Amino acid sequence: MFTRQGPTLGELTVQALSSVERGYDLLAPKFDHTPFRTPGVVLDATVEALAGHGPFADGLDVCCGTGAGLNVLESLCDNRATGVDFSTGMLTQARDAHPDATFVRADARALPFTSGFDLAVSFGALGHFLPADRPALFESAYRALRPGGLFAFPIEAPPPPTSSWFWLTHGFDLTMRVRNAVWRPQFVMYYRLSALPDVTADLSAAGFETTSVELTAAGEYRPGSPRCLLVLAHRRR
Ligand SMILES: C[S@@+](CC[C@H](N)C(=O)[O-])C[C@H]1O[C@@H](n2cnc3c(N)ncnc32)[C@H](O)[C@@H]1O
Repeated sequence: MFTRQGPTLGELTVQALSSVERGYDLLAPKFDHTPFRTPGVVLDATVEALAGHGPFADGLDVCCGTGAGLNVLESLCDNRATGVDFSTGMLTQARDAHPDATFVRADARALPFTSGFDLAVSFGALGHFLPADRPALFESAYRALRPGGLFAFPIEAPPPPTSSWFWLTHGFDLTMRVRNAVWRPQFVMYYRLSALPDVTADLSAAGFETTSVELTAAGEYRPGSPRCLLVLAHRRR
């Protein structure tokens, strides 16, 4: 899963014992060599799925990290893309990779934008928000969008219990629960706390009208069973 340019086990351990923000600051220079960066196949499938929903002028990448989602915005939006993240280290990497984009350091639960964007995307970050934090995240994204704007993000379909990913993600979440019970600061990252029905209910409560499409091109557990769905949450006009 990790290449030689990626973090060592020692570095990963120190990062995992830090807060989310500090952990990503430390990981930032090597983040693009980890499996945590959203793969190109998911980004490409997202561009394809969103192409018919435009036109989009201004785009926002929520929890942009080193800028994976900015590639999506640069393909779909007419104006400069904006990336927002709370990790200074990740923003530094993103700035180097996307010199034409605008970057803002902020907590995604309190975005400093009002009706500024036609499209907001977010990749690989939902697991960093506990269910209790999702209302603030979604209300914040809702405020950032113009009426009629779209908030789109991929979400994993539940893996079948016969897959190794099922056991890996459940094992990871259990480890994080134990870690967070005995260690401060917390590192919130759970794979299995963001089921689509719960996420959809929270989006509706924030005011969104929500649908989803299958991202078959991003991979399947078995034929006809896609690994990923793209959530499409529309701010009402
Ligand atoms: C797994 S990385 C994903 C980065 C990038 N979107 C990608 O797909 O490659 C998660 C990112 O979310 C950011 N993040 C987590 N919680 C956040 C919060 N409450 N506010 C802003 N950024 C946050 C982290 O700093 C990190 O850059």
